[in-house]
Amino acid sequence: MGKLTMDKLVTLCKGRGIIFAGSEIYGGMGNTWDYGPVGVEIKNNIKRAWWKRFVQENDNSFGVDAAILMNSRVWDASGHTASFSDPKMDCKKCKSRMRADTLISAHAKGKVNPDTMSNEEMQAYIEQHKLACPKCGACEWTPIRQFNLMFETARGVTDENQNKIYLRPETAQGEFVNFLSVQRSTRAKVPFGIAQVGKAFRNEVTPGNFIFRTIEFEQMEHQLFCKEEDSKEFYEKYKEKAMQFLLDIGFDKEHLRFKDHDKLAHYASAACDIQFLYPMGWEELNGIHNRGSYDLSRHQEYSGKSMLYTDPFNGEKYIPSVVEYSIGADRLMLAVLCEAFDEEELEGGEIRSVLRLAPCLAAYKAAVLPLQKNLSDSARPIFEKLRKSFPVIYDDAGSIGKRYRRQDEIGTPFCITIDFDTLDDNSVTVRERDSMEQVRLKVDELESYIGNAIKF
Ligand code: GAP
Repeated sequence: MGKLTMDKLVTLCKGRGIIFAGSEIYGGMGNTWDYGPVGVEIKNNIKRAWWKRFVQENDNSFGVDAAILMNSRVWDASGHTASFSDPKMDCKKCKSRMRADTLISAHAKGKVNPDTMSNEEMQAYIEQHKLACPKCGACEWTPIRQFNLMFETARGVTDENQNKIYLRPETAQGEFVNFLSVQRSTRAKVPFGIAQVGKAFRNEVTPGNFIFRTIEFEQMEHQLFCKEEDSKEFYEKYKEKAMQFLLDIGFDKEHLRFKDHDKLAHYASAACDIQFLYPMGWEELNGIHNRGSYDLSRHQEYSGKSMLYTDPFNGEKYIPSVVEYSIGADRLMLAVLCEAFDEEELEGGEIRSVLRLAPCLAAYKAAVLPLQKNLSDSARPIFEKLRKSFPVIYDDAGSIGKRYRRQDEIGTPFCITIDFDTLDDNSVTVRERDSMEQVRLKVDELESYIGNAIKF
């Protein structure tokens, strides 16, 4: 059927309570989005599935929930205060601020890679190819300058006594600074992992393709601490694990690919992304990074606290290496929605929009639909019973066809219809979202039937 466009997805998300523009009644606020009643459930399910795979089922992995506001020295140690910046320039005519690398990527379509270019080289490329401002069409740019992406705020009760602090631009540092505490409290032996899911903030300038690039977003990160000589093997293992997770939550492998980084940080020995084929093309979904002992060494240097780990078997002391796996929950949400969205033409020409979400990710696992309102005495108890086990929704408004369509659009895997036969045989009709096939089941069978289908 028709190609998925971002506009189509944004309209569906708004209309069905998945995602709304942030502060909409005040005219919105660029690059911020609010999750609605359906969206928050889907996103929570994504985070739960990730946690299950990377903490609960992962050997020797432990979760943390670190503070968003951290001692500013953390960001000196991590290198963010000095170099967490994007090359930006302003349009002299309409004053829009743009990322030079994004502008070049959009123009070059893979023929050059701005990640490997200096500011001077980017400036020369923009002048040579007369790259125009996407907002007003002018070709008059200020020189490229580096802008730090961290949001600053101030701590303290009086102006004189303020200390500059930052909203964390990544969750990873919360895992690094807790390395010793987690290791000691759990008595974990290397190799072990620390994971976290939480908010991060970046003062991104380039508008971001819906929730692809936002200024406030959630990350799901896992740091694997290991011996340097084992890091290559773990890097490959986490590439595989990251890909398998995506396949298991419903992605088609044709829509995913690995992309090695063209430019490595001086301390890293390998880095790659998994890209997803979004409506705007192949873009980064998550990253995997073999970072060596850089992070813990820097925190040792800046905090003065030893980050040495003592091997309990041979007494060897060393600073562990890190294999980082990082994925944005919102960017994954966008990929999940794009992957699930489908339109199909039914007999008679009607177009059915359906979110073919993996059942484990769907907001509601089933909808309970009395064929007529006067069947509510039979339908309500079924709904009350099922909602003790999983999220279900009750809908008795409108024709049964319209109610099916509403559930299809939010990806509810099963619709349970209570009809007049239910009064006699205590059975209901269960319609499966993707095939639209219907089976007749006893009310007592519903819980295990749905429970089996939504397992992850
Ligand atoms: N600790 C490593 C780190 O933060 P990153 O590549 O900057 O690495 C990791 O970010 C992931 O976070 C990305 O792959 C992406 O999924 C997500 N992400 C990064 N910036 C984002 C933004 N502005 N909006 C939404 N998601 C973002």
